[in-house]
Order: sequence, then C-alpha cells, then structure tokens
Amino acid sequence: MKGVKYMSKFSRAELEAYWMPYTGNRQFKDDPRMIAGADGAYLIDDRGRRIFDGLSGLWTTGLGHCRPEISDAIANQTRKLDFAPSFQFGHDGAFELANRLKDLAPEDLNYVFYTNSGSDGADTSTKIARAYWRQRGQPAKTRIIGRAKGYHGASWGAISFGGIGANRKLWGQAMEADHLNHTQVATDLFTRGMSKTGGELAEELHEIVALHDASNIAAVIVEPFSGSGGVIIPPEGYLKRLRDICTQYDILLIFDEVITAFGRAGSMFGAIEFGVTPDMMTIAKQLTNGAVPMGAVIVREGIYQTFMDTGGPDYMLELPHGYTYSGHPLSCAAALATLDIIEQEQIVGRVKSMSPYFEEAVHSLKGAKHVGDIRNYGFAAGISLNHIPGEPARRPFEIAQRMWEKGFFVRYGGDNLQIGIPFISEKHEIDSFFNALDEEINRQD
Ligand SMILES: Cc1ncc(COP(=O)(O)O)c(C=O)c1O
Repeated sequence: MKGVKYMSKFSRAELEAYWMPYTGNRQFKDDPRMIAGADGAYLIDDRGRRIFDGLSGLWTTGLGHCRPEISDAIANQTRKLDFAPSFQFGHDGAFELANRLKDLAPEDLNYVFYTNSGSDGADTSTKIARAYWRQRGQPAKTRIIGRAKGYHGASWGAISFGGIGANRKLWGQAMEADHLNHTQVATDLFTRGMSKTGGELAEELHEIVALHDASNIAAVIVEPFSGSGGVIIPPEGYLKRLRDICTQYDILLIFDEVITAFGRAGSMFGAIEFGVTPDMMTIAKQLTNGAVPMGAVIVREGIYQTFMDTGGPDYMLELPHGYTYSGHPLSCAAALATLDIIEQEQIVGRVKSMSPYFEEAVHSLKGAKHVGDIRNYGFAAGISLNHIPGEPARRPFEIAQRMWEKGFFVRYGGDNLQIGIPFISEKHEIDSFFNALDEEINRQD
C-alpha cells in the first residue's frame, strides 16, 4: 500500500506485544494508524490530524467523543463508588438505569440483565432462552436460529448463530444453530430504506421448523438491520412475519439491537422503528456512548416471571449467570448521562429528520466505479464493492487507507464499506465525507 508512512513512537518489536483484535496485525504494524485523542465527530491521530469519524467509533459514539457530561459522570462516580459486587448486592445506578431502560423499551420489555458487551448479550439472551424452555418443561428446545450475514459478536455462541463465514471458519460451530437466509437480494439493488419486496423471505422459518421441529428450537436471533454484515435492511413486513411465525411455533424472538438502539435507526430502538416487539432485546455500544463497556438484555414479563416462579426457595439463584462487571457503577453512570443527552438534545428526532439528507448523499455514489449496491436506513449505510477476482476485501481496504490519509475514518468488512456517521453530524460534514469517498472509490483500480 503506497501512502505517507510515519514513525510510531513504538519500535516494530514493541508493536508486536499487542495482538490486535479484528486487525491485519502485520499490515498495521508496518504502517500504524494511532489514535491519540478524540473530540466531537472527530478522531485525532498522533500527527494531530482531525479525522471525521465515519463509523462513530465502532457504532458506539453517536453523540460525539469526549462529551463532558459523560466524562464528568464517570469521574464523579469513580470517587463515590468505583466498584460494587454485582452478585447479591446492588447500587443505585444499576436500578436507576434499569428503570430508565424499561420506560424506553416497548410493551412489557421491562426487565434488564446487565452484560459487559454485545457478545455477552448474545450469549446471555440465548442462555436465557434455553433455560426458559427448560424451566417450562421443554428441555429439548435448545437450537438457536440466526441469519446468514448476521453478526452478534465473537463469543462461542455468537459465532455459532452468527452468519459471517469469515468469523466462523477457524472454529466451526460450537452451539446447535441454523440460519435463515439474509435479505440482501441481488434483484433489488440500490434500495433506499426498506425494500417493498422480500418480506416473504421470513417464511423460510417454516422450512427450518419443518427440518428441526419447533420442539427443538429455543429462539430466533436477528438484528433489526445488520451492521457488520454490510448494513442489510429488512424488507417491508419481514420482521412482522418473523414475529408471527415465532409466536405460532412458540419460539422466542430476540432482536440484537447492539447497533440499532438509541437513535441509529431514527427511533429509540429498531423494535419501535419497525413496529415489532421481540421477546428479548440485546443492547450495548451506544448505551454508554462507547465511553466504558456495557451491554444488557431486556426481557419481557413472561420470561422474567418464569424464572421467579421456578427459582425454588427465595435465597436460591433463579438464573446462575452474570459477570463480575454486570451493572458496573461507572458504566451505569455513563449510560445515565448518555440517555440524558439523547433526550435533552432530541437526538433520535435529529437522526430521523436528517436521514433523508444522508440517504441522498450515500446514494449519490451510485454509478461510482466498482459500486455494486448501496443500502441505507437512519444514519447507517452499506456500500458493496465488486471485488477483484481472488482478492476479496482488497478494494475496500485500499479505499479505507486512503480515506484515513485524507482525514476520514471508513470501516469495511468483507467487500462492504460500513457507514455510521455520528448523530451530531452537520450537513457540510456529510457532504465532505461523501465527496471524499466518491473521489477515492473512483480512483480505485
Ligand atoms: C449487532 C451486533 N451485535 C453484537 C456485537 C458484538 O458486540 P461486542 O463487540 O461489544 O461484543 C456487535 C459488534 O459489532 C454488533 O454489531
């Protein structure tokens, strides 16, 4: 890769000590991209350059980086209560946050179980699903149905029901899982928002049920719209049909809202935006604006009550599951401050009202070299690039590198560029981001 190479303060040997996640370690360590600071919609690199954050961190930081309200909430909390044992003890922040989330979540999604991340949320929600059926006398209901191109994290569970081949092939499948097809249809390209056709793809669930039998299936887990798989938007009616079929067969429906919650989709949750209520929702990332790790699973009344009713004597654990850092005081403080900003600055409404502008901008790349498809919803978009035969992901990698040099962060996965601009983005920033991207895509061999 040609480009401006610059010296890291670490020697090549020192760079080796950190085995970086989801990173081409060899390439990075030959040409490090070091982030030294961040401010609002910008990352700041170690050359002091301000780089527009085209993925809001990793879909985490929609409110912009280093928000003083969140930083102060975390700092104040460290001085008051830095850690509280999460097993058998509670603290105010955890209960306060659970009640805020309960009030925001639709219908009777009223019970919050804290995790550390989105991956833990995927594991926790599917562990709850399997235990729920066991407690209800149906222990054979164990299989989890995910979706091709779905991403739920890096845990054993998440790579089993996740549907991105590259994330599974080194390990195979650890849990019993099967997959629906994805909804990115080759005959329906450059769709703006939801496609009018393809809702019937949900009917495939009948075939999966015919194969395994509903008596062996615990849950279906899908992202309302996928992010890491390339931002794949559900066709009209698709999620509603999934809901109906799950209800018909007594299969739990889990929405992985790790990307879609808290504004990205133009509503507080994808479930609200698409008008479909799942039995559980997983959340993470934007929950704390990315400032400290935190995730959660929000479950419906009937699930929580099943565990309370079958838990034995009241001093016994109803669900022997949890994490040392579940409901960590710093995470709760960060999440409460994040929710305050989302509400005070009417962030969800801002995304909704600016998303047509974002849609126009991203679809202006239709016709650019190698662009095979563009999809968008809210403040999220996926751009598929036709790949060089035998060299998957080279084009997006090279474009992303040049965009970084130009002062824009673009993430890619496989042959897809993923765009998730900060909720606070201004129109001129959207314009300059897509102008730069247009130039760099068209420069690509
Ligand atoms: C939809 C979805 N679920 C789960 C995860 C995993 O989250 P984490 O990396 O916090 O474990 C991600 C991360 O990108 C995600 O996009």
